[in-house]
Amino acid sequence: MAGCGACLPGQVVTNHDLAQRVDTSDDWIVQRTGIRGRHIAAEGETTSDLAYRAALAALDHAGVPAERIDLIVLATTTPDHTFPATAVKVQARLGITRGAAFDVQAVCSGFIYALAVADNFIRLGQARAALVIGADTFSRILDWEDRTTCVLFGDGAGAVVLEATEGAGDVSDRGVLSTHLHADGRHYDKLWVDGGPSATRTTGCVRMNGQEVFRHAVTRLSEAATEALAANGIGPEALDWLVPHQANLRIIESTARKLRLPAEKTVVTVDHHGNTSAASIPLALTEAVTDGRIQRGQLLLMEAMGGGFTWGSALVRW
Ligand code: ACO
Repeated sequence: MAGCGACLPGQVVTNHDLAQRVDTSDDWIVQRTGIRGRHIAAEGETTSDLAYRAALAALDHAGVPAERIDLIVLATTTPDHTFPATAVKVQARLGITRGAAFDVQAVCSGFIYALAVADNFIRLGQARAALVIGADTFSRILDWEDRTTCVLFGDGAGAVVLEATEGAGDVSDRGVLSTHLHADGRHYDKLWVDGGPSATRTTGCVRMNGQEVFRHAVTRLSEAATEALAANGIGPEALDWLVPHQANLRIIESTARKLRLPAEKTVVTVDHHGNTSAASIPLALTEAVTDGRIQRGQLLLMEAMGGGFTWGSALVRW
């Protein structure tokens, strides 16, 4: 992983702001979720705008010129348009005219899915340098009258640059060491959007059975984390950082506890980002790299769960 970058919209919406719109309170939101504020895209600011700025920052951080990129995998649930893929819009703005660019859709697990896809392209020799982007503007698919969902989400984008390298093929190598993906579509309607081009010709809004999502999240996330550790023959004590999907502080803390990881080894941004869906892991990674917590050569475990249900993990040596 050669570099990372992020982009958050300028506008911050606090819990107090939301309490002016729906019957909620700062206390309730903080106690149940740990969220205090979130960034919301301005009118006309799109997922591709955020993704483009995150991609530029990641390329700059990696010291990789855009023309070297031959693969863009962009995870989003909130594309600018139904088609073409948001990835090709970002590709054009970066001035790239070769290689492949496409979106993947695995909701909050999107970044882990996109990372797995790009990593496998590189392992097979089908790409040499990839941009993996997680970008979402969930504010566009929220029912702002529904207090059970509108308080949970924020907008943003994060990106990483992957480059092909030679290594010993063990846990000492830098880069993506392994990825682990899962899905169980029987839970389709526990966290979903009630619109879509084929079913309703509308965009729809997020609907969720929060308690069911919570229950599954804690179990599935710790399973996926344990799977990544076992696949690499290491225990949780070998980890330097848990960089989890940022949905809810209670989910993050329960997963860390199950892994016997102390809070000091967990990157938490949900308090000021809310749940930014596919963007949350690269946003958290970029924040911790930028402020110096995450250092080169450290071992990171990433995990996420989202609508579908989908879930997964990745072990990365930064
Ligand atoms: N403000 C005030 N009260 C609220 C709010 C709100 N924003 N939202 C719900 N309530 C009320 C409910 O109406 C209910 O009232 P009632 O008892 O009078 O019926 C009461 O609070 C309790 O509601 P529950 O749904 O039981 O609350 P719970 O403790 O389960 O917390 C929450 C809800 C925060 C959504 C929790 O279930 C959760 O975090 N689930 C995970 C959801 C999640 O993270 N989704 C993100 C996408 S998936 C992912 O990224 C993993």
